[in-house]
Amino acid sequence: MQTHTTQAAPVGSGKTHAKVIVLGEHSVVYGNPAIAFPVLSLELEAKVTVSGEGHRVITPFHSLDRETAQTVELERKLSEIALSNTLEFLEEAPSGIEVRVSGLIPPARGLGSSAAVAGAIAQAVSRAYGRELSRDERFELVQSVERVAHGTPSGLDAYATTEAGPIWFEKGEAKPLRVLSEPRLLVADTGIVGHTAEAVRRVRALHDENPPRVEALLAEAAQLAQDAGTDLAEGDHERLGAKMDRNHEILRELGVSADPLESLVKASKDAGALGAKLTGGGLGGCMVALVGSERDEHTVRNALLSAGAKNVWPVHKEQS
Ligand code: MEV
Repeated sequence: MQTHTTQAAPVGSGKTHAKVIVLGEHSVVYGNPAIAFPVLSLELEAKVTVSGEGHRVITPFHSLDRETAQTVELERKLSEIALSNTLEFLEEAPSGIEVRVSGLIPPARGLGSSAAVAGAIAQAVSRAYGRELSRDERFELVQSVERVAHGTPSGLDAYATTEAGPIWFEKGEAKPLRVLSEPRLLVADTGIVGHTAEAVRRVRALHDENPPRVEALLAEAAQLAQDAGTDLAEGDHERLGAKMDRNHEILRELGVSADPLESLVKASKDAGALGAKLTGGGLGGCMVALVGSERDEHTVRNALLSAGAKNVWPVHKEQS
């Protein structure tokens, strides 16, 4: 164990953000490709102080009036695990370590909140000990927490919540994705807690029940992601939107949609979205809509709010 003789208490901070999967969730768990964008407007920050006295303190960041006690408890548990695993990795066992997490990412909505919490804590704790984690080290620490949260995480969220640009993820590897012109994406929250681990189990159960049908759906989702990569590279958002629509139908057939998601997808399409689908694990949580212009963005946003969305966030930087 290292000792620290500095006068000031060691401090460290780490930042991550939400992510949105535009194509390929669930299919990615079977080794197929997926495309994800960072949601930089939904940031999360962990701050760590090591005082050397007292117990471990973790301050959860979601106020009880906004979130259910269940999700707050889950975030607390995941934060504890992230802290313990990082300290174990660093071979440190301090007394008096305080972790404060603050941010706007709603938990359990398919926006990568658990990976973002784990990534920010791992980075903040390491920095408090003067260590900058490598990309691989941070990935492994986040995955150790994600395994508790989701069972068999593909690793997509671990990268997508830390990389600053869009990524292409396949078989455990994330690469920057070339995008000719930034798509206008809106993420809308049903306000209903999603269940990624349960959704992944359901897809697995459906696969065991009817392998040819599910394999055909997963293969189609894989092809959609491949072709969407080309659409993004060529800036063809109309073609991209059509692929998002079909991807949503596949996810529905896989049994991971939910009525509130269907309502938001329909509302955005009726209001002129080029494409719309659920995003993340499903069974609640969020959907993502692609719009073609600033004007359509206002119309679709209003339609989503009228259809019951609790929040709508733009994914892209402000464009004029
Ligand atoms: C969760 O954000 C996305 C899923 O594909 C699960 C995973 O990739 O581990 C449903």
